[in-house]
Parts: sequence; structure tokens; C-alpha cells
Amino acid sequence: MANDSAIGIHDLSLATTEFVLPHTVLAEYNGTDVGKYHVGIGQRSMSVPAADEDIVTMGAAAAAPIIARHGGDGIRTIIFATESSIDQAKSAGIYVHSLLGLPAATRVVELKQACYAATAALQFAIGLVRRDPAQRVLVIASDVSRYDVDSPGEATQGAAAVAMLVGTDPALVRVEDPSGVFTADVMDFWRPNYRETALVDGQESIGAYLLAVEGSWKDYTEQGGRSLEEFAAFCYHQPFTKMAYKAHRQLLNYCGHDIDEERITRHLGLTTAYNNVIGNSYTASVYLALAALLDQADDLTGRAVGFLSYGSGSVAEFFAGTVAPGYREHLRTAANREAIDRRKEVGHARYRELHGHSFPPDGGDHLVPAETTGPFRLAALRGHKRVYEAR
Ligand code: CAA
Repeated sequence: MANDSAIGIHDLSLATTEFVLPHTVLAEYNGTDVGKYHVGIGQRSMSVPAADEDIVTMGAAAAAPIIARHGGDGIRTIIFATESSIDQAKSAGIYVHSLLGLPAATRVVELKQACYAATAALQFAIGLVRRDPAQRVLVIASDVSRYDVDSPGEATQGAAAVAMLVGTDPALVRVEDPSGVFTADVMDFWRPNYRETALVDGQESIGAYLLAVEGSWKDYTEQGGRSLEEFAAFCYHQPFTKMAYKAHRQLLNYCGHDIDEERITRHLGLTTAYNNVIGNSYTASVYLALAALLDQADDLTGRAVGFLSYGSGSVAEFFAGTVAPGYREHLRTAANREAIDRRKEVGHARYRELHGHSFPPDGGDHLVPAETTGPFRLAALRGHKRVYEAR
């Protein structure tokens, strides 16, 4: 059941990395038939961060155009969602708050629950706006997905950030009640504090995701949600884009619907365009799917879009949004494409070098070579402190 409170996503902006590794290069290196990547998992390339890029530089780059368009007034909360955190105590959002010159009268916090955290951030933001409709909340989802080299997960790496301004009378998407939520204690994907790369049981993770699709949909319908036929499109979390198709087939089966591949492609096809060239951006991925959908679809005004957010471990949420009238005037289609197209291709050896990059934990003064041409960079690690600079 939709509600009329009209709170949701007022603006959405994305950023990704300086470099990109095509799957053809990875396939050539490891002797895999590239069809496994292009068709089997539905990925064509992956974003690779330069040494002077991280979740903060991407998050700030995604959020800066939102501040440029709307100003910072009224933003009293920043929620930074990530599972590739750079500090165990300080929120990455505080660095972004500083880089963007936002007012001191702001609360800033970091949220974690694997790839699900951005959706928690969006829902918490809606709660804050419902309490004080004059407020706007800046939600930033930013992640670098990193698995061991030569592991099955390697081909599903990626990195990106999405920033969303949440407020009343949103220009893009009105987020509806109810939500369907689901939690199960599973070890499908995790990253202990002492590891740089995630650990994953690939097949278990796919099974856990599919179980969470059923669980969150079941709760969504029990809470009085829309029926499946009402949706014009579905934005799934896309660890690799084929996963969205697996998830949707699972949902159709669960609901006793026929598997009509043409209809499935109509509902999902446009949502994969950014994720299949960026790779897994963890908590940003479901909102990259939304950006790709809005940027490419024929007029979706008034249509319902289903969102399925999954975070390993695991938590999932299914909710609906209605596309706002006039949304096309507020899209950032050209900038989104530019963020993706500007990436420079790297060879396999350079990718490996970047993958292996880490700072010595000695508290010394470590300058980072200037590589990114983006608006923000990580300039140094000095006395265990990260030093960022704006260009
Ligand atoms: N041409 C076309 N297709 C091919 C092919 C070829 N030459 N060779 C293989 N394929 C197909 C396979 O048939 C398979 O398709 P189906 O799944 O439809 O059967 C697909 O390509 C993948 O092949 P494998 O299953 O053999 O691949 P794999 O075991 O080497 O790795 C993976 C796949 C498990 C997804 C691995 O990439 C991985 O571990 N990824 C990280 C974990 C992950 O992304 N999990 C998703 C759910 S968890 C989640 O969503 C949270 C998160 O973000 C991590």
C-alpha cells in the first residue's frame, strides 16, 4: 500500500574510479573463456581505484554536484554507508563533510551491514525527514570491492559511490511504505578486521541472496505491499549483473508466475548498464541500478519501481518507489556517463600493483603519488592520519 507522505530521493549523483580493467584482459591473463564473464556473470569491466582514491574521495566526488546544485543548507545529517571502511572509529563521512565545506551543525555517522547499508541509510533518512520535514539528509554509499587475486570473486570486483539527497517532495523517487525486511545469520561473505580482502563462499552467497529475496518479499506482502504486476521495473543489488536475473526468476517462481524471459529483460535490462561496466560497488550497487534505469528508460512518471537490497551476512529489504513527475529534468545522465567513460584502461600488471597497494602501518609519513584526475584525492598518510585534498 502506497502512502502519500512523499519523502524520497530528491537528487542522485554517482562517481567511480580513475581506472578500469576490461574483463577481456583478465580473461586473457587467467585463460578463462571471456564468455564466462560477459555472459555467465554479465560483467564487461571493473572500476579500479588509483592509489590516491578511496571511499572518501569517491563519496565526496559523488556528493559535490549535489551540494553545488542545492547548497548545504538544510542538510543536518550525513549518513555514510560502506563496508570498506577506512577507520574503525571515525566516520568516513566526516572527511567528506570537511572536503565539501558543510556547516558544523551537522550530525555525521557511518553505517555498516555489507551491501545493504545504503538502504538502511535511506530508510533512516526518511525517518528523520518525517520527524522534521524541513530537513534534508545526505546519504552517501561508497565502496571498493576487493577479493583475493586469482579467486572466483576477483572478476566481480569494482568500486563506486552514489550520493542521494533525501527530502520531502522529492524530484526523482517517492519511497513508499511498507518495506519487507529479512535477516538470517549466515557466513556467505564477510571480511574480518585484519583482512584487506573479503572472504566469500560463492555458491552459498548466491543461495543466501535468493533465500533473502523470498524472505523480504514474503514480509513485504504480509505488510500489505503492492502485487508483482504493478511494477514497471526492479532494481536489485547487483554483485554481478546476472545475479539480478537469478533473483528475479526466484521471485517469479516463488509467486507462481511463469518465467517469461522477454518480460524479465523488460523489467531488468536497463538497470544493469552501469553495474556491468563498474563491477560490484557493494552498497552503492542497487542505487547505480536506479540511476541506470532512470537515465535510459522511456518516461516512468508515476510508475512503481521495486527495490531489492541485499547485504551478506545477511539482511535484505524489499520496498517500492514511485517515479516523480518531471523527474527527467533532474537527472544527471551526461555526468553519470562521463564518470564512467573518463576511466583510463589499465593493463593486468598495473591492476595487480594497485590491488596490492597498502600503507605500511608504521605511523610514518607516506605520500601518495598523484594519479587521480578526480576532484578529491588522498594525498598522504601521516602519523596514522589520512590527509585528503580537494583540487
Ligand atoms: N560462457 C558462458 N557462460 C559461462 C561460461 C562460458 N564460457 N563458463 C561458465 N559460464 C557460466 C556458468 O554456467 C555460471 O552460470 P550460472 O550461474 O547461470 O550457472 C556462471 O557463468 C558462473 O560460473 P561459475 O558458477 O562456474 O563461476 P565461479 O564459481 O567461478 O564464480 C561466483 C561465480 C560464485 C559468483 C564468483 O564470482 C564469486 O564468488 N563472486 C563473489 C560473491 C558474489 O558475488 N556473490 C553474490 C551473492 S552475495 C551478494 O550479493 C553480496 C555481495 O555483493 C558480495
